[in-house]
Amino acid sequence: MQLHLMTWLEVEAYLRTKKGIIVPLGSTEQHGPTGLIGTDCICPEFIAQRAGHEAGIIVGPTFSVGSAQHHMSFPGSMTLRPSTMVAALYDWIMSLKRHGFEKIYFLNGHGGNVSSAEAAITEVYAHRSLEPAAAHSTNVHCKLQNWWMLKDVFSLCKELFPKGHGSHATPSEVAVSYFAYPEAIKSAPLEPKIAPDGPIRDAADYRQRFPDGRIGSDPSLATPELGEKIVDRAVSALIESYDAFLKE
Ligand code: NI
Repeated sequence: MQLHLMTWLEVEAYLRTKKGIIVPLGSTEQHGPTGLIGTDCICPEFIAQRAGHEAGIIVGPTFSVGSAQHHMSFPGSMTLRPSTMVAALYDWIMSLKRHGFEKIYFLNGHGGNVSSAEAAITEVYAHRSLEPAAAHSTNVHCKLQNWWMLKDVFSLCKELFPKGHGSHATPSEVAVSYFAYPEAIKSAPLEPKIAPDGPIRDAADYRQRFPDGRIGSDPSLATPELGEKIVDRAVSALIESYDAFLKE
């Protein structure tokens, strides 16, 4: 169930019996010579939409531009400053809370989003803690979950790609995006086969250390078939994790 494909009457009816929503948290950034710029949106969105369809959960719009300043030396990458992201996400949460959503599950696709997303969630809790009047409004709880850290997903990724998994433009995220959009599968030479590893700082430093954009990965291993295996595992793990969050 996608929020975008519902009417306000349907959302109102949903809220009479259910209080939760899944919001995919993405990023628009380069993913090496063969990875799609939308990879970090596509992975959590695709997994969340399948889980939402299977378990009758509303899936909100994807927060599609995140914190990706380190990718800005590569064309097509877009970023929010951390302060902008905190402010925007705060407004997203407060909008949903306004209607009575009490459980907001963020399925994240990009490690760089974590600190800003956690800060936004803390801002929401701080508002309730500091404003006596706010304590009487809807009490919203948020959870931030990286899709690749859902139960048994990372172990599957490592099993499928024992060498060259790396940490950016990984074969697992590229495989998931290829399964979601087989019409967008790319091929390009990758040299070296496994990309270098190192720290992440500013955009110029990043491009110097990781000239083609990858970190430690060999995404030539990615296929849509392997992507499907990862998606299947992630969808059931997401439903389980979401149910546990509702019961907390
Ligand atoms: Ni990524």
